[in-house]
Amino acid sequence: MMSERLYQAMLDQIQAEFAAAYLYLSMSMYFEEQNLPGFARWMWHQYLEEQEHAHKFIRHLVERGMPVTLKDIPAPEGGWDSPLAVFEAGLAHEQEVTRRIKAMYDIAMEDKDYQALPLLHWFLEEQIEEEDIFRRVVDDLRRIGDDPAALIFLDREMGRREGDDA
Ligand SMILES: [Fe+2]
Ligand SMILES: [Fe+2]
Repeated sequence: MMSERLYQAMLDQIQAEFAAAYLYLSMSMYFEEQNLPGFARWMWHQYLEEQEHAHKFIRHLVERGMPVTLKDIPAPEGGWDSPLAVFEAGLAHEQEVTRRIKAMYDIAMEDKDYQALPLLHWFLEEQIEEEDIFRRVVDDLRRIGDDPAALIFLDREMGRREGDDA
């Protein structure tokens, strides 16, 4: 039986993963507006991937006989003024997710929920990858600065990432 607090944390995390999906969808739309199709596609991938994350928590609860109630998904704030600002916001978001997963891991350890640990462990590893990817793009965009040719080059690179697990 799952503890009430871990259960509540997972319900919150389902909401957070869908909120992340919504955030990345809005970022994808931002890049479409900027006519940067590679970044737009990359963010679209993130959007799909975050939904898969939500599904993992949903399946875990379903398979353990816990009812899943869904919460509101807040509208993303938006208002970014550059691709760099978008990726900095994305990185900050991923760092926040990492904190949340670690907090859930702490709860699962304290409550001796050994069945939840493999799932949370998967997410801890996933977050290393997520933060790493965002950090690399932030670094690239900082180096690019105001160089439009370099930005277009990176956009085309980002567009080719479809298929790997961006
Ligand atoms: Fe996620
Ligand atoms: Fe993520």
